[in-house]
Amino acid sequence: MLVGFNLLLAAFLLALSATVTYAAPLEHDLLQDRSTPTLPSKDPFYALPYGLDEVSPGIILRHRAPPNPIAAFGIAPVNLQAAHQILSRTTDSLGNATATVLTVLVPHNADFTKVLSYQVAEDASTIDCAPSYAFQLEHAQGPEMGTMVTETELLLVEAALEQGWIVIFPDFLGPKAAFMANELAGYATLDGIRAAINSASFTGISETPTITMWGYSGGSLASLWAAELQPTYAPDLKIAGAAIGGTVPNITTVVTRVNGKANAGLIPPGVIGLSNQYPELGQVVDQHLLPQFRTEFNKAKSQCYLADDTDFANKDVMAMFDDRNLVYTNPIAARILAANALGKHTPQIPLFVYKSVGDEISPISETDTLVDKYCNSGANIMYQRDQKSNHGQLAVIAAPKALSWLINTMNGLNHHSGCTTKTVLSSLLDLDALKVLPKILLDALLDLLGKPVGPLIG
Ligand SMILES: *[C@@H]1O[C@H](CO)[C@@H](O)[C@H](O)[C@H]1NC(C)=O
Ligand SMILES: *[C@@H]1O[C@H](CO)[C@@H](O)[C@H](O)[C@H]1NC(C)=O
Repeated sequence: MLVGFNLLLAAFLLALSATVTYAAPLEHDLLQDRSTPTLPSKDPFYALPYGLDEVSPGIILRHRAPPNPIAAFGIAPVNLQAAHQILSRTTDSLGNATATVLTVLVPHNADFTKVLSYQVAEDASTIDCAPSYAFQLEHAQGPEMGTMVTETELLLVEAALEQGWIVIFPDFLGPKAAFMANELAGYATLDGIRAAINSASFTGISETPTITMWGYSGGSLASLWAAELQPTYAPDLKIAGAAIGGTVPNITTVVTRVNGKANAGLIPPGVIGLSNQYPELGQVVDQHLLPQFRTEFNKAKSQCYLADDTDFANKDVMAMFDDRNLVYTNPIAARILAANALGKHTPQIPLFVYKSVGDEISPISETDTLVDKYCNSGANIMYQRDQKSNHGQLAVIAAPKALSWLINTMNGLNHHSGCTTKTVLSSLLDLDALKVLPKILLDALLDLLGKPVGPLIG
């Protein structure tokens, strides 16, 4: 059994890495005649228009085709019928009107009645790493701008496009790249869905589509906050369900847990991202950051997550402050971190929550507690705890299971009610997951070879 599993896993991972390698020879052809699109920080399309207060959340302010085609891994083009970028009005964590960009991908032979909102784990504190930008062919690259994490997720999303679904991606960190300002992330996700519905005249999306959401890790924060905020902020929206993986209920715990370890690179963009939303936190950071670490720490103001991950791996980032327990001792920091913890409201939509028992970034005990809390207030949750994985691996290993749950939910076949918790050896051994697994692999391979993305007719 275990050998079979390991073989399966090996084949899966091998096939994934094979797609990357295989794509490489294409690179030369595709690089011709293509210029780097303007960075969001310099692109007037992203600028906030005047009078935002006067329009409702989800109202479309401007839209265009992406300046460059959408890419997978920045190398092979995804063969789509259409793509759109939409700037729409949303609300930040302070309750102020703001606006952010939504990317809409339309596959060939699209089913315009089904929309998946996919929240990308961007995990950066500059707008120049936003998915709307990073998903384009020939976006700025190099050591600072590498966003491979984002593009790996696009491969998973290709499997969703294969279902014929319209897939939308909100730039849920907003115009200031407020990573960890989770209320904003939730609002931006809900308003992205509203904007997609409002875009019917030029995207063709149905005015009453079946909507689902999906997100892992940084993307789970936006998705689960959206689910928590939906009953009060967007009661008009009917959302059929959300698949939420690698949940992060409490970010204070994450800081303590990752500091000095492989994922310590989450801390600088998290602190800067929160300061981008809460200026008073920026003042606390200025006050307590030791002068000899200022330049190093502030690199996260202008680089994407891959670079943060590399630069701060295994570093004692909290020792860059004059008080390494600042997240507990400073009342402003403690208040802001508490305000951005999950569990403030109960989601009313059905959820598939999946989490690695060995998650090294956010302990599973906190997700167990959060799920219990939701369930005690009447939530509808299928909770899957996965034993043979860590945080990063589960994003890939559980993707087929999450996708199969989303397929059932989109098709109205999810009749689950109340709460069920299951601890599995591996999400890959799930029969439903195995049914979609080979298709994901095959399709990912074929897509990189340029096959039109969309369900094959007949
Ligand atoms: C945002 O909201 C805060 C708190 O309500 C308020 O003090 C501030 O002036 C607002 N900022 C803008 C730009 O509207
Ligand atoms: C988050 O976890 C920390 C311990 O890591 C705890 O002190 C704090 O109270 C928790 N916050 C919330 C909102 O549960």
